[in-house]
Amino acid sequence: LLVQIAKAFPRARVVGVDIDAQSLQSARRRAQEAGVADRIDVRQGTVAQAAQAERFDAAVMVEVLHEIAPGLRAGVMRETARALKPGGWMVIVDETYPTTLEQAREAEFKFPLHTGFEELLWGNVIPTREEQEALLRQAGFSGEIERSLIGEGFTVLATRKPA
Ligand SMILES: C[S@@+](CC[C@H](N)C(=O)[O-])C[C@H]1O[C@@H](n2cnc3c(N)ncnc32)[C@H](O)[C@@H]1O
Repeated sequence: LLVQIAKAFPRARVVGVDIDAQSLQSARRRAQEAGVADRIDVRQGTVAQAAQAERFDAAVMVEVLHEIAPGLRAGVMRETARALKPGGWMVIVDETYPTTLEQAREAEFKFPLHTGFEELLWGNVIPTREEQEALLRQAGFSGEIERSLIGEGFTVLATRKPA
């Protein structure tokens, strides 16, 4: 993800945050191989630890929200909101769990249901639309939340920090 962002935005400086050392090692290696390591900074820890005084134009979480322990999600979202500049973009790509049994029968929820089942052993819990939106609202994102479906069942959520 970091490499793709660095390539798509050639003047951007990109900071990657993860709690897992192995993921960070792999990100560093890929950045080196892609020749963009000079614009990518990879930091281990929480968002609050990794982004103390800096403020960013955008925060992007791809396949991360459902991997964050449910009890930590509100805090991570608040820390991420705080790390953004006013007007900064919060973009989340993740699966959305069906809220009702009727939704569970719809094609767009097939993949999220499968992921939820498969990753249960890792402790991952896929959030519903209501849970995703409540997390964003609680973190202070009071504006429009754009929502679209891509691929086999990934949701893209985009909203901006109030100016
Ligand atoms: C599926 S991977 C993300 C893949 C990445 N977006 C990419 O494009 O390669 C999910 C990551 O979320 C990280 N993660 C889980 N809980 C976290 C937390 N509380 N804070 C930061 N990262 C976390 C995991 O360590 C894991 O590396």
